[in-house]
Amino acid sequence: MDKKDDMLRALALPFERQELTMPEHAFWLRAEAGEAMAPWRDTLECRQSFRPAFDRLAAAGFRAVESLRGGYALGLVSLTKHKAENRALIAQGLDLLAADGLLVCCGSKDSGAASLEKEAAQRFGLAGSLAKHQCRVFWLHKAQAEDWAAEGAPRLVPETDLVARAGCFSPDHVDPGSSLLASLLPGSMAGRVADLGAGWGYLADWVLGRFPAVDMVDLYEAEALALDDARANLARFGDRAAFHWRDVTQGLGEVAPYDWVVANPPFHDGAKADPGIGQAFIRAAWKAIRRRGKFWLVANRHLPYEAELRRWFRDVETVAQAEGFKVFQASNRHDR
Ligand SMILES: C[S@@+](CC[C@H](N)C(=O)[O-])C[C@H]1O[C@@H](n2cnc3c(N)ncnc32)[C@H](O)[C@@H]1O
Repeated sequence: MDKKDDMLRALALPFERQELTMPEHAFWLRAEAGEAMAPWRDTLECRQSFRPAFDRLAAAGFRAVESLRGGYALGLVSLTKHKAENRALIAQGLDLLAADGLLVCCGSKDSGAASLEKEAAQRFGLAGSLAKHQCRVFWLHKAQAEDWAAEGAPRLVPETDLVARAGCFSPDHVDPGSSLLASLLPGSMAGRVADLGAGWGYLADWVLGRFPAVDMVDLYEAEALALDDARANLARFGDRAAFHWRDVTQGLGEVAPYDWVVANPPFHDGAKADPGIGQAFIRAAWKAIRRRGKFWLVANRHLPYEAELRRWFRDVETVAQAEGFKVFQASNRHDR
């Protein structure tokens, strides 16, 4: 059992014990597919802005939806590891409830669910709670929480003129790996560029703002909240930027080949480190790049990416090593 399964088992518990009743229509924020919640597959309207989790819900027969209408008797929230995002999720959940509705929140203890529960108890009062499977589950009645909702709003990222919100990768500072990669990108960049795992658009903004010979950048990103911020950040570039809500590990789809690809790939799936994700990004870049195209990648130095790069590209150069990161340039793709 992984942490996600533990959380789903804890969330199912008050319903299994009949402490709570699942009504005919209910919603679930940051929903995750899993057997423990399968009995309510047809009841729950599941919102999930992270594409791989959204696809897992749809594949497992859950009702994955992109928007919710409001007035629900009951809602569920899977809490994340980000405090500000959790407060915003609770505020959004409370807002979606009917006047006498109930919101059930569940999170793992090591992601701070116990302290959030305490805060919610002081602020709103709780209707009930339980602890099981290293998780906290607590439920509360509808209330107003505009100040908590505001914590989910996009904010200026220090030392930039770009915004990002809680729930995105590194919303309160530029990632040092991305900043290193950006500083090394050559002035010869031109044509069509793809940014894989583009986040709130830091690298794409850098490329579009500095390299006029770049016609356009396609941003591929799994987290819809980050992509929304990227849209706002890059609005000034008009149609030189295009946005794709996509799980890059599944490839980029049918695309005209790119002249350049840049990436600072993720190496976690939830709490689990998984270098397989970055390796899948490398394969996606190889597949989508022009024969003489160039792929620039930054990664934590310890990650096993060099062999994977050499598998797919003839020329792989370590351009820089600094602050625990490595920047690679890969070119001259193998035909496979
Ligand atoms: C290390 S961050 C880099 C973000 C951005 N390029 C920057 O410089 O701030 C990796 C990004 O990949 C996104 N991501 C995670 N899994 C993904 C997947 N399977 N497909 C596409 N993007 C993914 C994350 O949401 C995150 O924004």
